[in-house]
Amino acid sequence: MTDLVIARTSEDLAAARGDGTVALVPTMGALHDGHIQLLKHARPLGDILVASIFVNPTQFAPGEDFEEYPRSFDADVERCAEAGVDVVFAPSVDTMYPTGLDSTVTVDPGPLGSVLEGAVRPTHFRGVLTVVAKLFGLVRPDVAVFGEKDYQQLVLIRQMAQALCLGVDVQGCPTVREADGLALSSRNAYLTPDEREQATALHRSLQAAAAAAAEGPDAVLGAAHRVVEEASIAVDYLALTDPDLGEPVPGQDARLLIAARVGKPRLIDNIGLQLGSGTP
Ligand code: PAJ
Repeated sequence: MTDLVIARTSEDLAAARGDGTVALVPTMGALHDGHIQLLKHARPLGDILVASIFVNPTQFAPGEDFEEYPRSFDADVERCAEAGVDVVFAPSVDTMYPTGLDSTVTVDPGPLGSVLEGAVRPTHFRGVLTVVAKLFGLVRPDVAVFGEKDYQQLVLIRQMAQALCLGVDVQGCPTVREADGLALSSRNAYLTPDEREQATALHRSLQAAAAAAAEGPDAVLGAAHRVVEEASIAVDYLALTDPDLGEPVPGQDARLLIAARVGKPRLIDNIGLQLGSGTP
């Protein structure tokens, strides 16, 4: 186990990071095996591995679960130490937002920020990109690793790093799942046992869609809809896109994304597909 350092400010970070290359895994804590997978992926990518733990108020809308979002700092630090993290960066709200939460300079996600998740959570991606830009500025990583679980977030962060010339290599990591396919998420803790069973339909629908991928876009969407309807799940969206969330192109790689409310939590999932042309 490494001698893990807990940094609260940019001065702490500067002291801890030294001159080596830095890999960063941003999180909001309540770490589960999905987060640990990102840490394992990131460990060899830099001399210093930084995990940030910050429940970012600006990505939660009023009425969302900011207050009740699970917090387990001591257990998180222990898991970070086991995963080879050198520095846990756990800033205060003041360190992240020195001019206040209503600060007028923010990152505009552009058109992709208001579709899919952004259609339901219109201020969410502005909050995510703003905090990630700040984390990049404070930690100055060479590489940062994000989960494919939050696929739209990953695409937007990659676009931001490129568009704003941030000089950070943004890497994605495959989704870690429970044995029955449910994607790990801190919010799964809100599911009742019945809802937990119902929630398996999200991944089953993606798998059914993947099995139909060679038959083209209509077959993909039809197969996915059938599974969620059988499970009595009302989806927010089931969207077939290209890997950058643009229009899907028959014969090429595609992404299928799903969001649905199951009981209290809104669950999201997605899968990569090799799309056929739909003509036999
Ligand atoms: P959080 O929900 O804590 O997730 C931190 C990282 O873990 C994200 O990159 C997310 O995609 C990844 N992750 C979550 N569940 C996963 C799973 N089952 N498999 C693989 N990776 C998974 O996402 C955020 O925090 C925040 O928006 C953040 C980027 C930290 C900005 O505040």
